[in-house]
Amino acid sequence: MLGAAIQSGYLSQAPYNATLSKHFNSVTAEYEHKWDPVQRTPGVYDFTGADQIVEFAEARGMRVRGHALVWHGATPAWVNSLSEPELRIAMEDHIRTVAGRYRGRIFAWDVVNEAVADEGQANTGGLRNSVFLQRLGPGFIAEAFRLARSAAPEARLYYNDYSIEWANAKFERTYALVKGLVDDGVPIDGVGFQMHVEAQNYPPAAQIARNMQRIADLGLVVNISEMDVRIRLAPGDLMTRLEAQKRVYREIVGVCVAQPFCDGITFWGFTDRYSWIDGFFGPDDPLPFNESYGAKPAAYGVLDALLRR
Ligand code: G3I
Repeated sequence: MLGAAIQSGYLSQAPYNATLSKHFNSVTAEYEHKWDPVQRTPGVYDFTGADQIVEFAEARGMRVRGHALVWHGATPAWVNSLSEPELRIAMEDHIRTVAGRYRGRIFAWDVVNEAVADEGQANTGGLRNSVFLQRLGPGFIAEAFRLARSAAPEARLYYNDYSIEWANAKFERTYALVKGLVDDGVPIDGVGFQMHVEAQNYPPAAQIARNMQRIADLGLVVNISEMDVRIRLAPGDLMTRLEAQKRVYREIVGVCVAQPFCDGITFWGFTDRYSWIDGFFGPDDPLPFNESYGAKPAAYGVLDALLRR
């Protein structure tokens, strides 16, 4: 399954719509399934953009990956000011309402996103010190998964995070969290490896494969959930950097293609015209299609990997 993160506002642009429809069979809402746009005001849900994305995908037989039910990075201000009982009720209402709305229509949910602490970050027991941890304790993660299973029993339920593709301490913290959930009988099905990397600094295929295998050995599946490959700081002229980018896409996509338990690869966008990278890291060309929707060497690297050539 090859996917892209999209925004409903771009679907009316013919080349955006055509490129997406031609080359991908899965979509993720880059923003519009998150708490912030969906429930900006307590108890008032707005699914306008989210529904457009799901209906677009259904009309084309595409899968939808829901992203993300619980994430500190896109919670409206009112959530952050709730007491423990208020937040527990709000989280349950949010998960039941959002996951329940798309019951049977969404292939997988990122139930909890980025709950594991980064290196050197203030953390509690290896977890990010988010409002969810502060108010509800580490049990919020298991609670979220149980609520999601109840609301959307057909969906695969994922834990999703970044910088866990390497043989590093953050992956070990993530593995410990996920193994604990599995051991406790929490309904989790998989782990998403976001894969935001650079052409001159990316995890070796062997490390990615080993981490994925360790998750699979827990009885879970994995996916590459948000891939993009920055080239701004890579050495060489533009053509050199684009060729390096192609090699990285081919190598990393090839890791998932080679793993029977890797259920998909999603790029975080698909055209350089719209990427979060530009605003976060500076102008870049991180995706397989250029600003005019032309296929870059990276797109051919993806194809080589999919065709195992
Ligand atoms: O669509 C609204 C627009 O109507 C409004 O006028 C404008 C100004 O407020 O905001 C627009 O929404 C923005 C949205 O992206 C769509 O462009 C939000 O402000 C902005 O916060 C949001 O950023 C997204 C970010 O997550 C936070 O939700 C990025 O697009 C998205 O790429 C990024 O994705 C995250 C993953 O969810 C988790 N992993 C890391 C990844 C990159 O940060």
